Amino acid sequence: MIAQLKSLVRQLFYRSSLFQALVGFFSILLGRTEGIGMSHLLSYRENDAIGPLQRDEAIALFGIVRTLRPKVIVEFGFFHGHSAFNFLQALPSDGRLYSYDIDADSIIRAKTEFNFDPRFTCIAKSQTAFEPGDIDNHLIEFVFFDAAHELELNMTTFDRIVSSLAPNAMIAIHDTGLWHRAHFAPNHEAFTREYPGEWMSEDLYAHQSGERAFVDWIVATHPEFGALHFHSTRTLRHGFSLLQLGSQLCQNISINPQPADCIV
Ligand SMILES: C[S@@+](CC[C@H](N)C(=O)[O-])C[C@H]1O[C@@H](n2cnc3c(N)ncnc32)[C@H](O)[C@@H]1O
Repeated sequence: MIAQLKSLVRQLFYRSSLFQALVGFFSILLGRTEGIGMSHLLSYRENDAIGPLQRDEAIALFGIVRTLRPKVIVEFGFFHGHSAFNFLQALPSDGRLYSYDIDADSIIRAKTEFNFDPRFTCIAKSQTAFEPGDIDNHLIEFVFFDAAHELELNMTTFDRIVSSLAPNAMIAIHDTGLWHRAHFAPNHEAFTREYPGEWMSEDLYAHQSGERAFVDWIVATHPEFGALHFHSTRTLRHGFSLLQLGSQLCQNISINPQPADCIV
């Protein structure tokens, strides 16, 4: 009888988002679970976002940061703070986020609107002027490229940060995907006329071909890095790529000698 009742409750849970919300609310209220700090994502735009990352990308990056719990994130490109706030919501309480921008309005926004959070530091200088001292000589565990969108500037930046990367650092590069014409809104049409993107075929448009070239350059010149691409042409997707040093997972030390750079 109790098993049947529980099954009915579960069936209601799987079928009703209202019931899911109620169960979640009471789970937090009763201390059974904790809040997850994702409410901000309800207001992030998806299909027509140009500039900030898209909502679904923010969800993915939120989940990755929550999973990794990095101590230090460096972001190139604050703009209006969408990605920065998303990182802060996902970061552990002892984490730090250093965000670079050169635009006067973005810097004012960062310094006035984000001063509530001691984990956040705005660095008002170009990504190409990165110095380890900017980030208090910490090692970078997660870095997000979303600023200059130019191959040369990104290569210079990479060369400056590479010795500050933690051994298992993750590098995220935004805008590496292709837009499919079938999903264009008017602002995407306008973008293709105003900015120097590149048509790769009749339907596929590289809105930031410099970012794509940057990923290929890292992998070609630093073959020790492997890349994964979070791209889709089934929707309008800016896309991002994740890179990390290739490595073996550490095994039981008593059985095998361990490679010095294995990952726990
Ligand atoms: C696409 S927006 C960043 C969007 C932001 N990451 C988000 O998702 O909300 C790019 C930002 O990079 C900044 N930027 C451009 N060139 C830069 C450079 N060389 N160094 C630092 N920031 C730069 C621009 O001022 C702009 O605010």
